[in-house]
Amino acid sequence: MWISFAGIITNYKDVKQFLVQKGHKFRSDTDTEIIAKLIKHIHGLHPNYSFRELVEQVIQQLEGAFALCFKSMHFPGEVVATRRGSPLLVGIKTKTKLATDHIPILYSKDSPEKVELKEHSKLKDTQSDHRPHGHEIPAHGLARSQSTSEFLPQGDNKEVEYFFASDASAIIEHTDRVIYLLDDDVASVEKEGVLKIHRLKRTLEDTHAREITTLKMEIQQIMKGNFSSFMQKEIFEQPESVVTTMRGRINFDSETVVLGGIKDYIGEIRRCRRLLLIACGTSYNSAIATRQLLEELTELPVMVDLASDFLDRNTPIFRDDVCFFISQSGETADTLMALRYCKQRGALIVGITNTVGSSICRESHCGVHINAGPEIGVASTKAYTSQIISLVMFALMVSEDRISAQPRRSEIIQGLRNLPDQIKEVLELDSKIQEISKKVFEKKSLLVLGRGYNYATCLEGALKIKEITYMHSEGILAGELKHGPLALVDKGMPIIMICTRDNVFVKCMNALQQVTAREGRPILICHKNDQEPQKYGSSVLEVPKTVDCLQGILTVIPLQLVSYHVAVLKGCNVDCPRNLAKSVTVE
Ligand code: G6P
Repeated sequence: MWISFAGIITNYKDVKQFLVQKGHKFRSDTDTEIIAKLIKHIHGLHPNYSFRELVEQVIQQLEGAFALCFKSMHFPGEVVATRRGSPLLVGIKTKTKLATDHIPILYSKDSPEKVELKEHSKLKDTQSDHRPHGHEIPAHGLARSQSTSEFLPQGDNKEVEYFFASDASAIIEHTDRVIYLLDDDVASVEKEGVLKIHRLKRTLEDTHAREITTLKMEIQQIMKGNFSSFMQKEIFEQPESVVTTMRGRINFDSETVVLGGIKDYIGEIRRCRRLLLIACGTSYNSAIATRQLLEELTELPVMVDLASDFLDRNTPIFRDDVCFFISQSGETADTLMALRYCKQRGALIVGITNTVGSSICRESHCGVHINAGPEIGVASTKAYTSQIISLVMFALMVSEDRISAQPRRSEIIQGLRNLPDQIKEVLELDSKIQEISKKVFEKKSLLVLGRGYNYATCLEGALKIKEITYMHSEGILAGELKHGPLALVDKGMPIIMICTRDNVFVKCMNALQQVTAREGRPILICHKNDQEPQKYGSSVLEVPKTVDCLQGILTVIPLQLVSYHVAVLKGCNVDCPRNLAKSVTVE
């Protein structure tokens, strides 16, 4: 069974208990697993049910908000998808025009009995052998020409492709024709390739058909345009995406910051015991990037955790903790589980996401939308820089009442003001970075070294390289060099080193000399016209200087571009790297 699931099943414990009583064994504590086990259970009781009938049975037992897509080896060539409370659409791609612009809803003849099923069984008895939907009939009032048999391309080429997605942006590159499913619609594609939409019962409000909508310009804008991939487009969007993150929130003249989503909680946050930042992947790196500033401006202890590790440890959480959950998608299972864990223990939950209406948004007490715009490439780029800015804005807001912090706040706010132009300047390095990438793309490994505020850039740069180039890459804290990584250094080991003028510059220079003493010839990322480190570099990428806590935004962009160019040179699929998903909604 293959299930793609977004959302939450609120009664998953009851369902699980029922299934355990029936002898099912569970490997995880996720709501996803109960869906798989439930369908298996019903299939065992009713082996003659069609795939769609099984799914209809399953969703009647589920409470919560979800979008689900099922495939099974028992029903090869078929897909069934359904939603309740979470968005789901079907994209339709054909070579020729479709004979109809809407698809009728099919209701089951004996749907009243079916709807009763849950009432009678309450999950205690699915032994009922009423075949719930043996027959399908189109809704009353539909003309023959609107039947599903017409829902095929005109002409000889009947080939049709379907795409199931939560968001149109995910499929726009394949087709602009979509059907938005409504709550409790069950869409099935059967062997013959015809899409059918079923509902259990007819209601007066229902329109009895779903229209095929042609997506308009707004969505078209998220297409790749002149870029070769979404990732490349998203890297180059950063001068604008950072502006949209700050828009309406920072007043650069009065030097004030207001985050509407958390302003009512600021008092509670100031009084808290500690801040916890919990996330996965790139979102975790954004927490690393801002931890130091949060400690400085809030004067609170700040813990940063990978969600999976946090869950593994049964970490103690208190009512006066403030827990931040950072997630581009707002759906990452580990982050969501960690959120629920902290919420149960009474902590204040702050969501930092890019997806309005996502599970993390819905389940947080308050939060910040990073407003970076849709991010399609699996490797996160513009969301990372917007996450950093959101957390920096949070630190600025919390410290607004601290007189002693005013000069620092002022410096950062002015730094944020100049950031979009400085990002443009960094993006001009693109062709130089392409040349540098040609020198490293055939190597086995690439180390990225730095410390202080640039450490997060090392982790994030190495993550980008791993994700899309499949090359081994490690982000190394320069302070740890002599505790192991130095053994890797020789003249053949490709190294990128970040060395900007901040409070750890001297220490970085020291690390740089240790590397060059072992015949390492690093590619250097340093400040414009800074001669001192440049003499040690095999190549140099000069970035503009900004405030230390924002510098990571300018140093990570060259690494995003390195990963992009290396991936292109290696012929990798930049937007959809092997084995990875944009949103990991399973544990
Ligand atoms: C997946 C993606 C990563 C992303 C991580 C966290 O692993 O491939 O690019 O950083 O999930 O995603 P989130 O949506 O929670 O930020």
